[in-house]
Amino acid sequence: MEKIKMILDCDVGHDDAVALMVAAKHPALELLGVTAVAGNQTLDKTLPNTLHVCQHLGLRVPVYGGMTLPMVRDQITAGDIHGKSGLDGPVFEPLTWKQAEREHAVSYLIRTLMDSDGDITLVPVAPLTNIAMAMRLEPRIIPKIRRIVMMGGAYGLGNTTPAAEFNVFVDPEAAHVVFTSWVPLVMMGLDLTNQTLADLSVIQRMEALGNPAGKLFGDIMRFTHKSQAAVGLAAGPVHDVTAVVYLFAPEVFTTRPAYVQVDLSRGPSYGRTVCDFVGRLGHAPNAQVGTGVDLARFWDIVASTLALY
Ligand code: RIB
Ligand code: CA
Repeated sequence: MEKIKMILDCDVGHDDAVALMVAAKHPALELLGVTAVAGNQTLDKTLPNTLHVCQHLGLRVPVYGGMTLPMVRDQITAGDIHGKSGLDGPVFEPLTWKQAEREHAVSYLIRTLMDSDGDITLVPVAPLTNIAMAMRLEPRIIPKIRRIVMMGGAYGLGNTTPAAEFNVFVDPEAAHVVFTSWVPLVMMGLDLTNQTLADLSVIQRMEALGNPAGKLFGDIMRFTHKSQAAVGLAAGPVHDVTAVVYLFAPEVFTTRPAYVQVDLSRGPSYGRTVCDFVGRLGHAPNAQVGTGVDLARFWDIVASTLALY
């Protein structure tokens, strides 16, 4: 069966790291490249975090540094959840052989998409700054993108403000560019991803794999098990992993079509993804929005993929 060609855009970050581990190893996927962006922490932290995960697990996928700041608004990060480094918890050896590519992530995205046959899926699990900047710099890439499967947004409550989810709130204007591009889009928002809590039973299951990936999963998710408690969650959700798993196992999820509009007003709903499931706004749907997940099958997939390391 032909592999699904994908590019992972991330802000490593704990759940990003697990998403990278699954994307790099699942046999149904061909991970062409990884683009890093500022989000959970500044780029000078999220980029090396990405390199550390790759070096630790022997991943040769090319990694590109991207945008350091949002398109318009002031920068925010999530040190309260991900720690000062952006990936507190695991301890890595110093970086030696794994280095970032010299090309900027936005340039890489444009070059790769323009050279493609239109068969590449973008999987942004971070603020959408890299993706939006590429679309604005070279609009001809838009019809070349097969699909975007993203982690971000919410049709219910946000996690960074009552209205807004972090990835969208960090760069609402970038999210607006992506949602108005009309690229086929799947949105894995908080209403779905908050169901994927890596509680101690999940952590112990992955650690019992007895390999570096299982150990790394444990070191990563034991940290957010504590930090997420501070925001009222019983454990750390693996938000970003849902977007990767959806690529090759969509049947594990339920989704609904919706017209999604990003609120750009600078009030209390700034960065909200307003999801119209019933056509109230008079627009056709521009996204499939995740609503449910078969958790047993989801964790089986994650465990069986990490077991391949
Ligand atoms: O709101 C959850 C999202 O914000 C995830 O992508 C997590 O990594 C953080 O970036
Ligand atoms: Ca992320």
